[in-house]
Amino acid sequence: MNNIIIKNAEELVTCAGDGEVGIIEKGAVIIEDGIITAVGKTEEILPETITDIAPDKKRKSYRKALNINRKPARKVLHKSEGEYRVIDASGKVVLPGFIDSHTHFVFGGYRADEFNWRLQGMPYVEIMEQGGGIVNTVKATRQTDFSTLKELARKRLDSLLSFGVTTVEGKTGYGLNTETELKQLRVMKELDEEHSLEVVKTFLGAHAFPPEYAGNHDAYVEQVIEEQLPAVTEEGGVEFIDVFCDQGVFSIEQARKILQAGQRQGLEVKIHADEIAAVGAAELAAELGAVSAEHLLRISEKGIRGMADRGVTAVLLPLTAFSLKEEYAPARKLLEAGVRVAAGTDLNPGSCYSESIPLLIALLTLYMGLTPAEALRAITINAAAALNREDKIGSIEEGKQGDLVILDAPSYTHLSYHIGVNQVEKVIKKGQIIVA
Ligand code: NIG
Ligand code: FE
Repeated sequence: MNNIIIKNAEELVTCAGDGEVGIIEKGAVIIEDGIITAVGKTEEILPETITDIAPDKKRKSYRKALNINRKPARKVLHKSEGEYRVIDASGKVVLPGFIDSHTHFVFGGYRADEFNWRLQGMPYVEIMEQGGGIVNTVKATRQTDFSTLKELARKRLDSLLSFGVTTVEGKTGYGLNTETELKQLRVMKELDEEHSLEVVKTFLGAHAFPPEYAGNHDAYVEQVIEEQLPAVTEEGGVEFIDVFCDQGVFSIEQARKILQAGQRQGLEVKIHADEIAAVGAAELAAELGAVSAEHLLRISEKGIRGMADRGVTAVLLPLTAFSLKEEYAPARKLLEAGVRVAAGTDLNPGSCYSESIPLLIALLTLYMGLTPAEALRAITINAAAALNREDKIGSIEEGKQGDLVILDAPSYTHLSYHIGVNQVEKVIKKGQIIVA
């Protein structure tokens, strides 16, 4: 049953419209067949007969009652035989389902040893230069069989879901050869089918140079373009191409070549940009009309202007800066320049092993200067924009997917105020209660 009525929410936070979070007090939302069909004040969109129904009478035909309703609810009625689950959200907050717009959740092995070296002061870049880092996970991911890899990834999706995430972006990039890039992609495709979280897939064959191409980096660029890219596009399901474009990794020229090849295959562009140094990756994102540029710890003024001019969404990943003890991206500068700001966890086994949405919100607000409203939009509507899904998810509006989170809190501002605590009480995906 994908029909739900949520009523009496202390705050129904729609995240619809420009810039604001859009709070409806004593709000209600109706979901039918997985789609939102009415949003408004409880007394306005629900006839009295419905608002009076006790929450324990969960399955009951409301068709008749809804039919007497005035405007928006009327058109939702013919869709079902009128079975609705009714949730009384008195004293609670209803939000759009969270969207984690940047993760690397499919990986084999762990790098706790590297984390300990970092605790002792060794920089991430130095670990990478000494042959650790990403390529360590590449070795482990190549060695991990498909079903083990999938079960590990499934657990991470379960964890994200418990924090209120209903859509997640996932990247390949721990294969760096056709076989293992495809293995990661297939894990994501199968989990997208089986798991209640939706998985948006990104090809990141240019995440690092694999050891077998040491000293021959341009040949690897060719291999990505000539072999991996055709194989993953033939496999299907991939929407984005991404490159780690930074100092010591893929140069601007190499990234441009790979990303343009992806564009010719119909993929949209994302870039791991200017995390280590201001190499001009944000400018490249603007030049190529990328959907998003991500990390951006060292972004230049020119990069900021370019992203604003071309409407490239910034995906901020403060958990990574926190974990690497680096300075945070200049979030306020991006916002003031008119750049759209989204945020994600960057969940991965190296630079940031965390699924914590509460910690992400704490860092966005306490250390990066976002308001609670900006932080919420960063993981809802702006994250939807970073995934080209603004028409489907990210806000509570008629016609959008019924993806919602209910918080055990009286105001959405508690997301940042109640520091680092998971306040998610229920998660609803396409009108189904997944976490109760
Ligand atoms: O987003 N910056 C590049 N890639 C990942 C790191 C992945 C890893 O360390 O395994 C990131 O932080
Ligand atoms: Fe990343």
